[in-house]
Amino acid sequence: MSQQTPGLAIETAGLVKTFGETKAVDGVDLAVPTGTVYGVLGPNGAGKTTTVKMLATLLRPDGGEAHVFGHDVVREADEVRGRVSLTGQYASVDEDLTGTENLVLLGRLLGHHKKAARERAAQLLEAFGLTDAAGKQVKNYSGGMRRRIDITASILNTPDLLFLDEPTTGLDPRSRNQVWDIVRAVVAQGTTVLLTTQYLDEADQLASRIAVIDRGKVIAEGTKGELKASVGAGSVHLRLRDAEQRPEASRVLRRVLRADVQLEPDPVALTARVGAGTSNGRGTAEQAAAALAELARAGVVVDTFSLGQPSLDEVFLALTGHDTTAHDAPRAHDAPQADDGPQAHDGPQAHDGPQADDTKDGAAA
Ligand SMILES: Nc1ncnc2c1ncn2[C@@H]1O[C@H](COP(=O)(O)OP(=O)(O)OP(=O)(O)O)[C@@H](O)[C@H]1O
Ligand SMILES: [Mg+2]
Repeated sequence: MSQQTPGLAIETAGLVKTFGETKAVDGVDLAVPTGTVYGVLGPNGAGKTTTVKMLATLLRPDGGEAHVFGHDVVREADEVRGRVSLTGQYASVDEDLTGTENLVLLGRLLGHHKKAARERAAQLLEAFGLTDAAGKQVKNYSGGMRRRIDITASILNTPDLLFLDEPTTGLDPRSRNQVWDIVRAVVAQGTTVLLTTQYLDEADQLASRIAVIDRGKVIAEGTKGELKASVGAGSVHLRLRDAEQRPEASRVLRRVLRADVQLEPDPVALTARVGAGTSNGRGTAEQAAAALAELARAGVVVDTFSLGQPSLDEVFLALTGHDTTAHDAPRAHDAPQADDGPQAHDGPQAHDGPQADDTKDGAAA
């Protein structure tokens, strides 16, 4: 790969980084379209930061190739550096300076005149809700303010490509939302964002395409919809008027949808997965509608009903066979994939599978 594909901000082929016995990045291929948020999703130790550091020219790859806007990250590192900015996993602004002082200092280092640096600092502090904190030393900032000033510092000069390495780890929901708004604002200005995250909902909220990485390898890649479709088309959530009707509702859903039905802790609630490998090639909504009709016929009163896509948590579990909290431990090369299938993780909820009395009930009407 010496020529870059037009329209791609990042293109890698077989990227490798080894630390001693650990293959931190083990043959990663990425194609990140310009002007989008691209999510790299993976648990602790998956190789996210190592990948980002290679793309940002902070680490030299041990194998494979990577191009950023057509420039080789090793041979043309200076060109790459001129176009990218990185907000690292750990904050990098000076704690003893105030928000304004940090931004003005950085602006001056970037070659802005004092007045321009001050104006840009004020504009960004205002845009990201930090005006009140502008005169405070950063060491007195909350975690959320800290992440915001950190991202702000990396977009003083609007970069063509911004790396955000776990921008919201450890933040409360409100602060996460503020950071998400910043990311959306940055992309709206035309910047491409490569975002790493351990939060499935974050990738879901922000990214157009997602690469799921696990143990240094990309194990799935695509749009959110494609990823979810590879796991199952969706889930039907029901709440019944009467808890006593739940066994009957569960029986009907299993029969019509031919899917696992989960009995939620709430005694009137149940969830059934629809899609992949379930029923007769019909569309998800059609299957769900058929299930509702059957419930009505059976006299089950449904209070609320919703049909949603599976969560990315479910996606990760189905792709890797383990959940996202696993393994931060060092690993040997080519460690075998966990061989406990998704069924090992069905969780604490009561869970009656579709097999149970399928034959007894016969096929869907
Ligand atoms: N400088 C280093 N020296 C030795 N091992 C390293 C080094 N940097 C990373 N590793 C190892 O490489 C693997 C990938 O690490 P990396 O930091 O890229 O993961 P990550 O996906 O960013 O994880 P996290 O979500 O915890 O930030 C881990 O096993 C880690 O211990
Ligand atoms: Mg990391």
